[in-house]
Amino acid sequence: MADLYTVRNLRLSLSDMTAKPLMGAAPQIDILRDLTFTIPKGAVVGIVGGSGSGKSTLGRALVRLLEPSGGAIHFDGADITHLPERDLRPFRRRFQMIFQDPMSSLNPRHRVGTIIAEPLRLHGFDAIPERVARALDQVGLARSFVARYPHELSGGQRQRIGIARAIALEPDFILADEIVSGLDVSSQAQVLNLLEQLVRDLGLTLAFISHDLSVIRRLCQRTIVLFRGEIVEDRPTADLFTDPQAAYTRELLDAIPLPDPTQVWS
Ligand SMILES: Nc1ncnc2c1ncn2[C@@H]1O[C@H](COP(=O)(O)OP(=O)(O)OP(=O)(O)O)[C@@H](O)[C@H]1O
Ligand SMILES: [Mg+2]
Repeated sequence: MADLYTVRNLRLSLSDMTAKPLMGAAPQIDILRDLTFTIPKGAVVGIVGGSGSGKSTLGRALVRLLEPSGGAIHFDGADITHLPERDLRPFRRRFQMIFQDPMSSLNPRHRVGTIIAEPLRLHGFDAIPERVARALDQVGLARSFVARYPHELSGGQRQRIGIARAIALEPDFILADEIVSGLDVSSQAQVLNLLEQLVRDLGLTLAFISHDLSVIRRLCQRTIVLFRGEIVEDRPTADLFTDPQAAYTRELLDAIPLPDPTQVWS
C-alpha cells in the first residue's frame, strides 16, 4: 500500500524561553531527534509515550503547525517540510487535527452550525448547510445541534463536534491528540467506536496519540512508542503487547490497569 506520510530523520528543536538570558537568543532544546517512519494510506497508527516524550510536538509537525528543524516530511508524495503558509493552504484541508480539549478548540461564542461551517467556507466548499447536516449525521448527532453552543453540550458531544468539523472537510488524514483522555469510560468507548467506523467508511488515515496503551490496543494496527523524543519501537500493536522490545515499553505496559480485577488471581 502506498504511504501517505514518509518521515525521514525528522528533528525539531524549540527555544527554551524559561532559560532565555536577558540579552541574546534563548537556548534551543531538541524535542524530536531523528525520527524515521512511514504511515501507509488507510492505516490507523498509534503514537504513545509518557508525558513530555514529544507526542504532541510530532503531531503538530505532521500537520505543519510546527516547522521541522531537520529531516523531511513527505505527504502523499509532496515535500511539506518547509512549505510556507500560502503553499500549505491546499494541504490544510487534507490533514485535520482533533484536540484533547474540545472546549478550548470550539469557539464558545459560535453555534455548532457556524463552528462546522466556518472551515468549509474558508476552503471554498459549496452546499455548506447540506455538508454540515451530513457531518452531524455521520457523528451520530441530531441536526438540531446546529443551534447549540459548545457549553450546551456534554464532553462526548463536544468531541463529536470536533470530529464532525474535521470530517466535513473530507480530509485524507486525521491526527487525534488525546481526544478521549478527558472522557469517562463509556463516552470514551462511544467516541472510539465512532472513530473506528468513520475511518473504515471514509477511508481515512488516522494517527492516534495517547498515553493510554489500552486505548491504542483496541484501535491501532501499528504503534510507535516515543521516549524522550526518539522512537524506541515501531511495530504491529499485537507484537508490542506480546513481546515488548524496549524497557520503556514494558514499563508502559505494566502501568495498564487490568480491565478485569479477577485476572490477577487466574
Ligand atoms: N513551545 C515550546 N517551547 C519549548 N519547549 C516545548 C514547547 N512545547 C513543548 N515543549 C517541550 O517539548 C517536550 C515535548 O512536549 P510534548 O507536548 O510534545 O509532549 P507530549 O508527549 O505530548 O506530552 P503529554 O503527554 O504531556 O501531552 C516537553 O519537554 C515540553 O516541555
Ligand atoms: Mg501532548
